[in-house]
Amino acid sequence: MPKEKSATQRINSLREQILEHNHKYYVLDAPEIPDAEYDRLMLELQSLEKEFPQLVTEDSPTQRVGAEPLKEFVQVKHRVPMLSLGNAFSDDDVQDFHHRVTEHLDADGMEYVVEPKLDGLAISLRYESGILVQAATRGDGATGEDVTHNIRTVKSVPLHLRGKNIPDLLEVRGEVFMPKKGFEQLNARQVKAGEKEFANPRNAAAGSLRQLDSSITASRPLSMYIYGVGEKSDSLEWSTHHEMLSTFKNLGLPVCPEIQKVQGVQELLGYYQNLGEKRNSLPYEIDGVVYKVNDLSFQTRLGFVSRAPRWAIAHKFPAQEELSKVLDIDVQVGRTGALTPVARLEPIFVGGVTVTNATLHNQDELERKDIRIGDTVIIRRAGDVIPQVVSVVLSKRPEKTEKFKLPDKCPVCDSAVIRVEGEAVARCTGGLYCAAQRKEAIKHFASRKAMDIDGLGDKLVDQFFEADLIKTVADLYQLKVDDLLKLERMGEKSVDNLLVAIEKSKKTTLPRFLFSLGIREVGEATALALASHFADLEKIEAADSDTLQKVPDVGPVVAKHIAVFFQQPHNREVVDSLLKAGIAWPAYVRENTGQILDKKTFVLTGTLSSMGRSEAKAKLQALGAKVTGSVSKNTHFVVAGADPGSKVDKAKKLEIRVLDEEEFEQLLKQPDEYL
Ligand code: IVH
Repeated sequence: MPKEKSATQRINSLREQILEHNHKYYVLDAPEIPDAEYDRLMLELQSLEKEFPQLVTEDSPTQRVGAEPLKEFVQVKHRVPMLSLGNAFSDDDVQDFHHRVTEHLDADGMEYVVEPKLDGLAISLRYESGILVQAATRGDGATGEDVTHNIRTVKSVPLHLRGKNIPDLLEVRGEVFMPKKGFEQLNARQVKAGEKEFANPRNAAAGSLRQLDSSITASRPLSMYIYGVGEKSDSLEWSTHHEMLSTFKNLGLPVCPEIQKVQGVQELLGYYQNLGEKRNSLPYEIDGVVYKVNDLSFQTRLGFVSRAPRWAIAHKFPAQEELSKVLDIDVQVGRTGALTPVARLEPIFVGGVTVTNATLHNQDELERKDIRIGDTVIIRRAGDVIPQVVSVVLSKRPEKTEKFKLPDKCPVCDSAVIRVEGEAVARCTGGLYCAAQRKEAIKHFASRKAMDIDGLGDKLVDQFFEADLIKTVADLYQLKVDDLLKLERMGEKSVDNLLVAIEKSKKTTLPRFLFSLGIREVGEATALALASHFADLEKIEAADSDTLQKVPDVGPVVAKHIAVFFQQPHNREVVDSLLKAGIAWPAYVRENTGQILDKKTFVLTGTLSSMGRSEAKAKLQALGAKVTGSVSKNTHFVVAGADPGSKVDKAKKLEIRVLDEEEFEQLLKQPDEYL
C-alpha cells in the first residue's frame, strides 16, 4: 500500500521533529520555532493518525502532552492529573464547541466563565492546613517537578491562606507568568551582563522557575493567577466554577481580574473580541481566551476526551510569531547618515499583516543575533509594534553562510562610514553630499509635524530624485508645473494640489521651521524650546554653544549639533533661500518673546489622539500658558480630548471656551487666532 507507506514515513518524520521541539521547549526552555509552527506539525500528525489509526503508537507525541521532567528536580506525582485544553482557532470552532456542550447536556443555553489564556506555565500549589507545602510544574500531566523553593519567591503566591475557613487540603492550579514590563527589564539586564536574551516572557518565566538556585528565581519578576483546582478536602464544595474562584479570592489567592461570566456563544465571541482589542494594553501576555462551562455538575457530566476537558476550550488569537527566511540584507542610510541593516524577508503573514522587511537595528544587534542571509528566522509582530527578528533557527541554517558586517563605505555615496566610540550607530560621513541623507531630509521636511506639505510623501520624493528635480529642501519651492507633469502618475489635478500644498506650507511657525531643518537631536520639543527662548531665527543662527545651553533641556551635545549646523555655509544657504522663497511665521514669536499665551490658563481633559497629556502641557507652557488641574472662573480654555470628564460640563456652566483636539492643534499653530 504505497499511500500507507508514505504516511508512515511522514508520521515518523513528524514525530521525530515534535519530540526534538518538545525537548527544546520543555526541558531546555529554549524553543526554536514559533508555537504556530509547532501547532501545525502536531495538527498534521493528528490528522494523519486519524486517517491511518493502525499507525498510532503508544509513544506518539499525540498521546502524551509535555515532556519528562529535568533529572535534577524531585518528581511530583499529580494525584489529579493536570490536563491540557483543546484549541479553537475560528468562530466556527467555538460554535462547534458550544453545540457539543449543549447537545451532550441536552440544554438550550449555557453559562460560561471566560478567562484570559495566560502565556506562562501551569503550576500546582498544594496548601495543607492553609500552608503552602508544595509547588509543582505540570510536566507531562501525570508527573511534574518540585519547584516549591522557587515558587516561594513569587510574591503573588501566598505562603499562608487567609480567612477563617481554612481547608485541610487545597491544591490549586494556575499560571506563573512574567509581566511584560518585568520581561523587558530582565532582557535589558541580560544584554548588559552579556547574557542571552529570552525570546519571550513565557520562556523567561519557565527558565526562571527551572532554577536549582532559588535566589536566581527571586531576582526575576514573576507573578501568578489561579484558575483551577486539583485535590481538595470534601469540606470544600462549590456549585459553579465562578463560585470556586470567589472562594480562592477570599482565601487570598490571586485570581485574574479580567475573568467574567457570560451566556451563550455570542457573548463568548464578544469577550474574545474585547480582550483581543485590550491585548496590547494588558500588563501580561495572553495568547487567547479560555471558555469554561460554569456549572460544576455539568462539568462532571461532560468529562474528558483524551487529555482535555469537554467542558472547556482555548480560543487562540492569531499567531504573533511565525517563521520566515532572510532573502537579503540591505543597508539603508537615514537622514542623519545612520546605517541601518534591514532584512528582506520571504513574505509572511504574522500579527495580522504581511511582513516583508524587518529592521536589524545596528551592528551590535546583528552580531548578538548573528542573522545571516539564507537564515530561517522567527518574526514577531505584536500589536502595532514594528516587526522584529526574534532569533535564528540555527538547525535550519544552510551550509555556506557568512556573518553579515556593515560596509565601511556608504552604499549610496561611497563616503567613509564611521562609528563613534560608545555609540551603537555607524554613520555615513557624506552629510548633504550623500543623496540618501538629502532625500531623507526632504521627507522629514515635508512631514506632517514639520512643514506639513500635504501629498508630498516618500514615493514622490523618490521620484523627484530619480528625475533630478530637487537637491535640497529649498528646491521644493522652485518646482514648476511642467517639471511635475513629466513625472509618472502626476496628472494636472495632482500637480495643482501639490503646488497649492507647497505654497500653503510657506505660512508656518518658527518651531515647525526649526524642527523641519532636521538638525540632529532637535525634535519638536527642543525646537519649541529654542523658539520660545530666542524668538528669533537670526539669534539662534548666531548663538554659540554656551548661549544655546541656556535654553531649558539643551545640553552640550544638542547645543553642539545646533551650532555646527548653522556654521555650515551650505546649511545657511538653504535656510536663506527658504526664507527668500517666502517662508514666514507670525511675528509674535519674534516680537513677543514667544509668550503669546502669557497669563492664559488651560485645563486638559480626556485623551488626545496625537499627543500625550504631558506633551500637550509642555507645548502650552512653551507658549507661556499656565496649565492647571481643575476648572474655575479663572480658567480661559478647556481642551477636551476623547472621553472627557465632568470638567467639560463645568466649563460650559461657567461659559468657558472648550476646544476640541482639532481646534487645540490649530491654537498651537496660530495662537493669535484664539486671543
Ligand atoms: S485551564 C482542565 N485556564 O493553557 C483545564 N488553562 O493549553 C486546564 N492556561 O496547561 C487548564 N490560562 O498552562 C486554564 N485561564 C486558563 C489558562 C490556562 C493559561 C494554560 C495552562 C494549560 C494550557 C492549556
